[in-house]
Amino acid sequence: MQRKDIARQARVSTALVLALALMWGCAAPETATEVKSPDGRIAILFALDDSGAPVYSVSFDGKPVIKPSGMGFEFKDQPPLSGGLEVAQADLSSFSETWEMPWGEQRAVDNTYNQLTVALKEKEAPERSLVLHFKAYNDGIGFRYEFPAQAGVDTVIIMDERTGFNLAGDHTAYWIPGDWDIYEHLYHKCKVSEINAIKYRNHPGLAQTYIPENAVNTPVTMKTDEGLYLSFHEANLTDYAGMTLKVDTANLSLTSNLVGSDRLGYKVKRALPFETPWRTIQISETAGGLIDSKLIVNLNEPNKLGDVSWFHPMKYVGIWWEMHLGISTWDYEGSQSMSSFAEGGKAGSGTHGATTANAKRYIDFAAKNGIGGLLVEGWNTGWDHWTGFDDREGVFDFVTEYPDYSLQEVVRYGREKGVEVIMHHETSAAPRTYEQQLDTAYALMKSLGIHAVKTGYVGKIIPAGEYHHGQWMVNHYRKVLEHAAKYQVAVDAHEPIKATGIRRTYPNAVAREGLRGQEWNAWASDGGNPPDHLPTVAFTRMLSGPIDFTPGVFELSLKPKPNNQVNTTLAQQLALYVVIYSPIQMACDLPENYEGHPAFQFIRDVGVNWEHSLTLDGEVGEFVTIAREERGTGNWFIGSITNEAGRDITIDFGFLPEGKVFDVQVYRDGDQAHFRDNPGDYAIESDKIKKGDSRSYHLAPGGGVAISLMAIKK
Ligand code: NOJ
Ligand code: CA
Repeated sequence: MQRKDIARQARVSTALVLALALMWGCAAPETATEVKSPDGRIAILFALDDSGAPVYSVSFDGKPVIKPSGMGFEFKDQPPLSGGLEVAQADLSSFSETWEMPWGEQRAVDNTYNQLTVALKEKEAPERSLVLHFKAYNDGIGFRYEFPAQAGVDTVIIMDERTGFNLAGDHTAYWIPGDWDIYEHLYHKCKVSEINAIKYRNHPGLAQTYIPENAVNTPVTMKTDEGLYLSFHEANLTDYAGMTLKVDTANLSLTSNLVGSDRLGYKVKRALPFETPWRTIQISETAGGLIDSKLIVNLNEPNKLGDVSWFHPMKYVGIWWEMHLGISTWDYEGSQSMSSFAEGGKAGSGTHGATTANAKRYIDFAAKNGIGGLLVEGWNTGWDHWTGFDDREGVFDFVTEYPDYSLQEVVRYGREKGVEVIMHHETSAAPRTYEQQLDTAYALMKSLGIHAVKTGYVGKIIPAGEYHHGQWMVNHYRKVLEHAAKYQVAVDAHEPIKATGIRRTYPNAVAREGLRGQEWNAWASDGGNPPDHLPTVAFTRMLSGPIDFTPGVFELSLKPKPNNQVNTTLAQQLALYVVIYSPIQMACDLPENYEGHPAFQFIRDVGVNWEHSLTLDGEVGEFVTIAREERGTGNWFIGSITNEAGRDITIDFGFLPEGKVFDVQVYRDGDQAHFRDNPGDYAIESDKIKKGDSRSYHLAPGGGVAISLMAIKK
């Protein structure tokens, strides 16, 4: 590990002040300082304006990316902290290290940046202090506020944060609404001036949703008319409210709008000293550069858990898709269908999915195919009493199994066959009930040697007035993660708080949902996920971290659900194992749809833990091609997916290592393939490929190609 830490006092130069004034054509601010990325292309300029209010701006190659924008806070019992400030001290420093991901899309991560730290103080009483930290990387910028310990202020109650992002143009934006309760929205593409999040209130199929403003959730990705790609997000969301960005369509600016608590009447309460999450902007000349950027994880603290080798990246199957298809039910009686998100379930059919016998059937299938995990949903009591009950407190029990399911026996059988059970905790958004049971629930997992849990938070949060993305829930999700770590359990949260790179610090945060996943295809009344959904997700939601998307549907017409289908081809379902990164990847379809299917070989072969990842090509919402090298084997896998437009792609294999020939299997769309009416048409072809070769492949509408390159052993 190489580390250099050079700190030097930044002298506030008159030249800089003049430069800023000339650059933005405004009155000369009182002071200005600048920090540039190591390659010198990105610059952050900080200044105080005439009123002593902090202002920052960002440029790329000398052209404005963020025009001078304000920073500050509104408090409950104090005047706002937004003007009358002076610079007490400004420091520039540099940092460089290489750190290792215990599991991940790549092993070694370069973390090199230049930093500007500005200590501010109010000139007059109450003379409060605030420190600003700006970091400039080659792939973007981050900044945060620090509230240092100070006389007279113990605690702040933040009514809102006022961080502005004044855009330099009317960019094309790829966004979901600023929903305080859920991220499971379709992405929309339009100019910033046309964003209308309010229109998407009351989307069907959402068990919880609250969109109070014309705001967007992050990551929100934009393309400028000059072809520069930007993505706005946050890093290290700790003990703070999630940030949405309120859109001023007339002035083309975004302003932080924190998720609040109606119950508590504020947005954030913190004792001093503390630091806010980082506000981040990834900047790239190519769309793919956004995916390869490591800005978000780099802005988090190093691994706090140490050795996490008890968690193994793995593929898994589950007693899951059959419930979403309505073939079986989560609850024991089969008397309620979970109709809020699985309309058409066979209420009253008595076909409980989570039986010991059914679990063994899945384990046998997994063991035969080298799949390491089995998720079982609907194993515990509570499901019968969920839907329709306003008070869900005390309903779910995380240690008591239904009479037709023996957790102990399933775990034993799985171990005998080399398949780990993944625990399931659906909290029904009653976190207090869950917290009361954390000790017993995780002790049970420990006693059985279970190292992974999928959690869920469907519905409106109890207590009323709290939202999934507010400070209170941010703290709940963190508490669960920390608790799980003590018991050596990895967490895959559904209906989660968004990923903000916390996996660097807590590598047991292995994956999460936080988007419209595969399940929507089984029951959405709006036609399911359209073909441009995943080519957009790759450049938006995926920038925040691993996704439990649950790919791998082979029976794409969804026979048990005549009104639904999956809007991709079979080859695209395979390609998703490479494109959508997660250290746990589900093979979500029913075993009977995989048995004997030649294309299943790709799912058997594909890696889940990577040495390197490279985005070869792509355009937001249109297509993306990603190559990944598996850790430990030297095998490479490539996935490419397209939206509703068919297209030809050419892959240049210049990234392969010198002097090696690979045995290649290509799983491509058949000549007649089309996501709408012929999704299952595919072809498998063999090839031999070495560095320097190039190949072209045709992707059908809604299609894809999945390629395995196995290193030939000498
Ligand atoms: C919603 C989750 O996203 C889904 O995967 C799960 O099956 C249901 N909740 C039930 O917990
Ligand atoms: Ca969900």
